[in-house]
Amino acid sequence: MSSFPIGFFDSGIGGISLWKAIKKILPNENSIYLSDSKNCPYGLKSKDKLDEICIKNTEFLIDKGCKMIIVACNTATTNSISILRNKYKIPFIGIEPAIKPAALRSKTKKIGILATKGTLTSDLFSQTSSDYSDINIITKDGEGLVKLIENGNFSGNEIETLLNKYLDPMINYGIDQLVLGCTHYPLVKKAIKKIINDSISIVDCNAAVAIQTKKVLNENEILNDNVKNDPSHTFYNSGNNNFIIKKLLDNKYEINNFE
Ligand code: DGL
Repeated sequence: MSSFPIGFFDSGIGGISLWKAIKKILPNENSIYLSDSKNCPYGLKSKDKLDEICIKNTEFLIDKGCKMIIVACNTATTNSISILRNKYKIPFIGIEPAIKPAALRSKTKKIGILATKGTLTSDLFSQTSSDYSDINIITKDGEGLVKLIENGNFSGNEIETLLNKYLDPMINYGIDQLVLGCTHYPLVKKAIKKIINDSISIVDCNAAVAIQTKKVLNENEILNDNVKNDPSHTFYNSGNNNFIIKKLLDNKYEINNFE
């Protein structure tokens, strides 16, 4: 079973940054990545709709033989991962806004969280943030950012105007940690860095999730430690932005259709 692929899904290209972080520390693993761009953005969907979409994505990946699934999306994780864990036997790894490391590192005790509406209104997010009552948390729903990023707009006026709108209130509030609570946002880190000053650190937890993935593979005895393996990585997209996926992957992989 260890040679079976790890499955990934996201509403689009955001999870590719997590896929890269995992590939780096788990170079022998085979993978299947599902970019569900047709249903993007997940952040504006109801919990019921998200559950339905996550079940469909999971069943597709399980049918393809995946031994584990990475829910490479904060919105899907915070709303639906518990449903998936209850329904299927394989292990699931999720990603959610990194409040804990930000809270531990903050000197001003003021942290900013940029995430989707779906993440910020989820029960899991409110439970986690209530654990940090000594920290002042300012949240902003980054509506519009994901759509621009899906179309490859990583820089320029449009993205900067929106980022200014969301980040300026956080800067004025005095945050010293900015949590990127959506897997699409690391793709516009350069534009974000142009706006925030050096006294604000960006917290993104891709590396921590990659370490957790390795740990869970080990615990379940399904880690692929075959160093001779020439890993296979397969990509599916339900939308029509293959060009941007290819660009992010340096044109190394073909993209298949997902209905
Ligand atoms: N990349 C996703 C996340 O981490 C979803 C963004 C969206 O589709 O709204 O939340």
